[in-house]
Amino acid sequence: MAKTLRRRKEEHLRWAVTPEASMRRPNGLERWELVHRALPEMNLEDVDTRVTFLGKSLQVPLIIASMTGGTAEATHINRNLARAAEAVGAAMAVGSQRIMLDDAAAAASFTVVRNTAPHIVLYGNLGAAQLNDGVGPADVQRACEVLGANGMFLHLNALQEAIQAEGNTDFSHLVDRIGAVVRAVPFPILVKEVGCGIDRDSARALAAAGVAAIDVSGAGGTSWARIEGLRATDPRRARMGAVFGEWGTPTAVALQDCRRALPAYPLIASGGIRNGLEAAKALALGANMVALAGPLLKAAQKSADEAIAALDTLTAELRVAMFVSGARDVASLTTRQLRRVRR
Ligand SMILES: Cc1cc2nc3c(=O)[nH]c(=O)nc-3n(C[C@H](O)[C@H](O)[C@H](O)COP(=O)(O)O)c2cc1C
Repeated sequence: MAKTLRRRKEEHLRWAVTPEASMRRPNGLERWELVHRALPEMNLEDVDTRVTFLGKSLQVPLIIASMTGGTAEATHINRNLARAAEAVGAAMAVGSQRIMLDDAAAAASFTVVRNTAPHIVLYGNLGAAQLNDGVGPADVQRACEVLGANGMFLHLNALQEAIQAEGNTDFSHLVDRIGAVVRAVPFPILVKEVGCGIDRDSARALAAAGVAAIDVSGAGGTSWARIEGLRATDPRRARMGAVFGEWGTPTAVALQDCRRALPAYPLIASGGIRNGLEAAKALALGANMVALAGPLLKAAQKSADEAIAALDTLTAELRVAMFVSGARDVASLTTRQLRRVRR
């Protein structure tokens, strides 16, 4: 089991950085622009990107999205990402810790993060569908404690599991099972998609189950259907990867839908966010935080310095976007600064 999981993780890392792994469709943020403020009435230096999220202070409203763990390369990537998160004051999440529950030797590829970054806000990760496959609240608690995390993401990845040969496709009764985990553990449970978006009904059900925050992780960036199609050996699954490669709700649409359904609820935007201007637009559309995976993976494969530079660049772009829209702090970035792009 651990060996199969390890091979799958290696293949995911290999395919995720190829151009074929990205959706061709945009993330929906291109339909919005921030209104230029000719008189911002402040100094660029006055822009304040600090936020509080789920009771924790951060220097920037950015999360390094859940990616990896369980292999030698994952240890290298997680260490570099952890250095970057610590350097810029961003939050970080690790990839699915399932492999660690089965194989204690895999733990080091995850624990490297807290050892490298003692001060960051850190989240663990497990698949929600695993709750139908023997994983229970005690496992979620153990995964959080071993990692030294501040909370746990549970991911929803129905399409990916449906295309993957070894996929776990039982997504029944998950709201109840997630609710049971929320009640049993003393830390926040967050729920995320992996690039297909969270819809209104699911968001309402998750909030009612006591989930602390939702990452809408919409379409427009990394495509897990494409990645599973690329690694498939069976032609029918390979074809499915292409047929469903662009499936999902674009990030901006999922974010607006969830924000309308849950007006005052912690929301994270991810899925194809590639620069600080897009991050600013997502924050103005109602996100409390922004997360990125794909581009930070590419940087962290090279070095910690590359990962730090990627986050610094994003932050600098976010600061300029805030400056020229007249938003002194993140809370001031609201829909009032946004205009729909006319075609
Ligand atoms: C290499 C890689 C591995 C990932 N593994 C996980 C995972 O284990 N758990 C999870 O919830 N999401 C995982 N994701 C999904 C991301 O967290 C994110 O939701 C998705 O990639 C969309 O963001 P992006 O377009 O910025 O890449 C992974 C993404 C990448 C690129």
